Amino acid sequence: MSFAVAIVGCGLVGRAWAIAFARAGTDVRLFDATPGAASAAKERIAPLLEDMVEAGLIEATGPVLERLTAKDTLEEALEAVAWVQESVPEDLELKKKVWSELDEKAPPLTILSSSTSAIVPSLFTEHLKRRGRCLVAHPLNPPYLIPAVELVPAPWTAKDTMARAFRVMTAIGMAPIVMDKELDGFVMNRLQGALLEEAFRLVEGGYCTAEDVDRGLKHGLALRWSFMGPFETIDLNAPSGVRDYCERYQHIYENLFPSMQHRADWTGPVLDKIEAERRRMVPADKLDERQRWRDQQLMALAAHKKNAREKIGD
Ligand SMILES: NC(=O)c1ccc[n+]([C@@H]2O[C@H](COP(=O)([O-])OP(=O)(O)OC[C@H]3O[C@@H](n4cnc5c(N)ncnc54)[C@H](O)[C@@H]3O)[C@@H](O)[C@H]2O)c1
Repeated sequence: MSFAVAIVGCGLVGRAWAIAFARAGTDVRLFDATPGAASAAKERIAPLLEDMVEAGLIEATGPVLERLTAKDTLEEALEAVAWVQESVPEDLELKKKVWSELDEKAPPLTILSSSTSAIVPSLFTEHLKRRGRCLVAHPLNPPYLIPAVELVPAPWTAKDTMARAFRVMTAIGMAPIVMDKELDGFVMNRLQGALLEEAFRLVEGGYCTAEDVDRGLKHGLALRWSFMGPFETIDLNAPSGVRDYCERYQHIYENLFPSMQHRADWTGPVLDKIEAERRRMVPADKLDERQRWRDQQLMALAAHKKNAREKIGD
């Protein structure tokens, strides 16, 4: 792909974005405020690429690594880039400061995009001169293995910015969720929050263990959810589709909702229960190892999904 991007902030998420862009053929300039962090990022990316080769997700590490260049200054990183992916820590005052600099120093037509998990874009772009080119592109981590990305406009984000952002994200192989207006939690954290809240309630009430909840998801609901969403699931779970499903089954859910109003305290006694269970299954000193296992599982799943898409279709 013949454009260049700048990654501003080369921590966990910035590095993962760098892989997602470079894998698609984009030139990636890395910048981090901590001296040495941008070149260190390149070194940390190399072994991840080797795992991706092993999983069959890329052919070789060399061409991807060659597209990554560490830059010493923000000005150098921003030179002639079409897209900036800001990935500095989740702190509103810091974001405001960094975004003022980005708006001032990036070429006028460059899209400015933030990885923020939970700050709506109006809070750090309102004061900017060219605020129409600003949006949030919130990934699930890591974006080189999980394609969904939420594109969130501020009230003043131009329609053309959203359309261009959609094209860029699609071109690098991401699956953009396009929000029409900003909302706390965007889409994915609201969905995840609803599910987590019920999971905490079930364990808090002594109805099942944390392991049962996880088992139900990974051997049940998430099997379907890994290739279609809840709406397509219900559309296919009644002979005549989604309306048929709602007419047949709404009453089941309606009966549940009154008992789902109580707020679980995630840090209350239920956490002791869940933590004890989790640490029995994965001791604290094995969490790193288990995170690597998770990434290998994600890579295997990404390879499977690619294969299934080619053989069965989307
Ligand atoms: N960690 C996740 O799972 C996840 C997922 C999606 C989105 N996000 C969001 O991505 C953003 C980054 O999160 P992270 O987990 O990568 O954080 P991180 O702490 O791993 O990395 C942040 C990097 O930004 C650098 N930095 C700090 N100030 C800077 C500045 N002024 N200019 C340039 N670089 C600067 C730091 O040196 C650090 O390397 C946050 O907004 C976070 O909410 C995180």
